[in-house]
Amino acid sequence: MMIDAIEVRKNFPILSTTVHGNPLIYLDNAATTQKPECVIQTIDELYRTSNANIHRGVHFLSEQCTQKYETARETVRKFINAEKTSEIIFTAGTTGSINLVATSFGERFVSVGDEIIISEMEHHSNIVPWQLLCERKGATLKIIPFDDKGILRIDLLDSLINEHTKIIALTHVSNVLGTINPVKEIIAKAHSRNIPVLIDGAQATPHGDVDVQDLDCDFYAFSGHKIYAPTGIGVLYGKEKLLEQMPPYQGGGDMISTVTFEKTTYAQLPLKFEAGTLNFIDAIALGAAIEYVNATGKQNIIEYEQKLLDYATKKLSAIEGLKIFGEADKKVALISFLLKDIHHLDTGMILDKKGIAVRTGTLCTEPLLTHFGKTGFVRASFAFYNTFDEIDTLAKNLEKILLMFN
Ligand code: ALA
Repeated sequence: MMIDAIEVRKNFPILSTTVHGNPLIYLDNAATTQKPECVIQTIDELYRTSNANIHRGVHFLSEQCTQKYETARETVRKFINAEKTSEIIFTAGTTGSINLVATSFGERFVSVGDEIIISEMEHHSNIVPWQLLCERKGATLKIIPFDDKGILRIDLLDSLINEHTKIIALTHVSNVLGTINPVKEIIAKAHSRNIPVLIDGAQATPHGDVDVQDLDCDFYAFSGHKIYAPTGIGVLYGKEKLLEQMPPYQGGGDMISTVTFEKTTYAQLPLKFEAGTLNFIDAIALGAAIEYVNATGKQNIIEYEQKLLDYATKKLSAIEGLKIFGEADKKVALISFLLKDIHHLDTGMILDKKGIAVRTGTLCTEPLLTHFGKTGFVRASFAFYNTFDEIDTLAKNLEKILLMFN
């Protein structure tokens, strides 16, 4: 069923706002998405009627919140088709999930002389945690490059893997190039050499259908706020057999079984990795956001967003002086670009005056920008509430900016 974006927009209160006197055109969805009424209402209602700390009380509210929290975990499990809820760990977001793995997996499995492989198109959050680990352990970071179209050079993977490789950490979808990486193929290749793979799914989960059992990934990280849920909540999926071998990431309440001054034993999965009072309200709201996406239909979202991408690519490519970065055949709905030698911040600020929100700057991917010899891009990133008219308005304004600078 084709999505009716005009109807969808009614569910997102912020989309009817104005910016500098113009209707908001929100094209910064890869940075964070807007929230539907059902998510806003879930949070409001929880604080008004149900709030109490989870896993800690026998009283009515605590038990009710615990049940909702664990229901949200089950919703997440189904959403990415994990085998068990014990493999679903709530974190603060993708960054939190990757840091958990880099620290805990790194502590258990990485030592001096070992190697970790990432790619040239990673977000800083899938670079820096591994660099920190390498510094701590005396390990080395190796990089899979991409070509000028923004396609990973997986033909080079074999030459990068060796007996010292301990893990490969890779983005499913580039937040700048939009490229959908062939992660299933890479995982199979890595597994044939007994190397586990972590996938950064921050930009994939909002736009596609993720099945962690089909991918056979060892870890999968994603954020709530990029998929219509609140900020401060995210997920780490991990295979049980690996999570069980890994030490706790943080110590505190809820992650223990018993504590004495002599020795502490830890809770079963997933609580072993959920120390302290987790962001349980937003975890429940993440469940509501996923239900909303499910009700809209993942396939409907994929089809509509691909139409938006095709239309936007055609419109923007037709603008003389506009260069698109990221031309892979398989992309999600986002376009990074530059207008001639006009500074990305100038473009972003002029668009803002017209009510158009795009991202500008390094997009948290300095090594990727270095590949192209640039210091920043402008990025328009779409969601299923964006319209073809909004793309027309973007294109018209980009043409005006070019004229202005001529
Ligand atoms: N990682 C987010 C982006 O790409 C913030 O904009």
